[in-house]
Amino acid sequence: MSDQIDNVLHENRSFPPSAEFQQNAHISSREQYQRMYRESVEHPEVFWDRVARDLPWIEPYEQVLDWSDAPRARWFTGGKLNASAVCLDQHVANGKGDKVAIRWEGEPGDRRDLTYRELLTEVSRFANVLKARGVRKGDRVAIYLPMIPELAMAVLACARIGAIHSVVFGGFSARALRDRIEDGQCTAVITADGGWRRGKVLPLKREVDEALEHCPDVHTSLVIARTENDVAWQNPRDVWYHEAVREVADTCEPEPMDSEDLLFLLYTSGSTGKPKGIMHSTAGYMVGTYLTTRFVFDLQPDDVYWCTADVGWITGHSYIVYGPLANGVTQVMYEGAPNAPAEDRFWDICERHGVTVFYTAPTAIRAFMKWGDEHPQKHDLSKLRLLGTVGEPINPEAWMWYRRMIGGERCPIVDTWWQTETGGIMLTPLPGVTATKPGSACMPFFGVDAAILDSAGKELGADQGGLLAIRKPWPSMLRGIWGDEQRFRDTYWSKWPDRMMYFPGDGARRDPDGYFWILGRVDDVINVSGHRLSTMEVESALVSHPKVVEAAVVGRPDDLTGEAIVAFVIPAGGVTENQSVTNELMEHVATEIGKLARPAEIRLTDALPKTRSGKIMRRLLRDIAAGRERDQDLTTIENPAILDQLRGNA
Ligand code: WT7
Repeated sequence: MSDQIDNVLHENRSFPPSAEFQQNAHISSREQYQRMYRESVEHPEVFWDRVARDLPWIEPYEQVLDWSDAPRARWFTGGKLNASAVCLDQHVANGKGDKVAIRWEGEPGDRRDLTYRELLTEVSRFANVLKARGVRKGDRVAIYLPMIPELAMAVLACARIGAIHSVVFGGFSARALRDRIEDGQCTAVITADGGWRRGKVLPLKREVDEALEHCPDVHTSLVIARTENDVAWQNPRDVWYHEAVREVADTCEPEPMDSEDLLFLLYTSGSTGKPKGIMHSTAGYMVGTYLTTRFVFDLQPDDVYWCTADVGWITGHSYIVYGPLANGVTQVMYEGAPNAPAEDRFWDICERHGVTVFYTAPTAIRAFMKWGDEHPQKHDLSKLRLLGTVGEPINPEAWMWYRRMIGGERCPIVDTWWQTETGGIMLTPLPGVTATKPGSACMPFFGVDAAILDSAGKELGADQGGLLAIRKPWPSMLRGIWGDEQRFRDTYWSKWPDRMMYFPGDGARRDPDGYFWILGRVDDVINVSGHRLSTMEVESALVSHPKVVEAAVVGRPDDLTGEAIVAFVIPAGGVTENQSVTNELMEHVATEIGKLARPAEIRLTDALPKTRSGKIMRRLLRDIAAGRERDQDLTTIENPAILDQLRGNA
């Protein structure tokens, strides 16, 4: 972490918004931001009440916030609304039914545009199919789909009938899918025969079939025909969507949901144990994603917005499905890889669709840099007016390239810090106000009381690295971990035991201007390409292989993916010259969790460095993996002789 601190300390470039951008922005002056911010943290009930009035309530709420049972927050208590009606019905009712909601493009180049009216009809039919299959309010439905319009429809159809969706990213393996279905006790799955990825079919249904061998409680597997590859079939469980949808009506009343009824579960990795089913509820989440999308992306009526994330992650939930649709924006949705058929695919899409607001990840930006300037230069990107990033700290070099090459030095960049747990953006520039600094997530969003504390809870001064804390509840905050209340309290609310403050697990500092700089995770979570993986999960996958005795996994800095996974493995029978074992183990992790968890490097060793009490010295392993030599306190190490072998000098 100290390397990163050095890195960012020297960054003093600053880029204020242009007068033109500022003029038309929703929030356009520092004074306006400060006035609104002050109200939002001093009188959150007043602030959020005003925001929430924008939503189409079925029944009004009685109280804005009830924090008496902290850390279980209740926002907008007593109110009723439906998230799909916020996203669809209200726009159709307000005369925007013919506006395009989604401009979808498949990887092979096929296209589909859906207006708000058409999307409402499709979602209603989808909801009716779910109902016909016996899915009821409160049931959990797993969604395992490629980035096709049906993914957004499936999510909204669940919301419409009050079923709790649990989207599982299509890159996860059958095993990971099964774990999530089991943990959430899902009773139905929505999938596709396959999806397109770099010209190849990802056989999604095959993974589902394998997962469902162990999930007898799943009564329905609803299958969308996308790639028309051969699939196995099990009656009566498996149902083709296009057949089922012929039998149902075009309209479906949205279920009136209590503000605190769960909207979805989304699994994410923690430093210990199995993935956590993060719970989000209806009203607070909708209010939070509605407002952050509107202000952070400064949405204007004619914008063409594009978030390149997958709906399988929180970014896609909040900033493809719920936030943008709640705001009635026109958005692009794309199925495939950024380099299919060529490295200019994203810029080709931006040009052809006239994208104005573009939101992507630092790891993607670094890949674009590597692929070369000629790819964006081939395209007219002059319609772009705002850029965003999310998922990991962005290195200033990538930030500057993004600004110059994609943003034409005119577009503000919003570097947004948030998490699966926060539901929506927490730290961010406001594009019409903030003079941005490359690498900084800048300022707290409205209602976010962020601070840098030490482990005793003392607030630290300017430029002192410490722990990021959120000191007050916010509407889109997580409501718990599915089935594990204790873990919810322990993980997020116990860092500072005598005060009810949220601990996100990130280190950060604040510069003398009050800007936040995220320094990365302080726990055993690795951030690979903006995706969280726990060292523990990868270790369990490794030791489940018969040829592994013990394993320790750490992250090392990587130019492209931010961090890469390095595994130190004690093989059964000791270390021999055996390359094929490492390949086999890499494959094994990919099968157990998914390709995103495949270690970049596996080092075989006869022992791991341990303390006398038997704890693996991960800090040491991190240094070795990164090739860093530094003076470490080695007095506690039980077996110092192992260090040479680990460094590869044995
Ligand atoms: C973790 C959350 C939020 C959607 C994508 C990831 C890191 C996220 C930033 C940023 C520095 C960031 C943090 C955070 N992170 N955005 N702009 N600058 N770090 O969601 O999988 O829940 O991961 O990603 O470490 O805790 P997630």
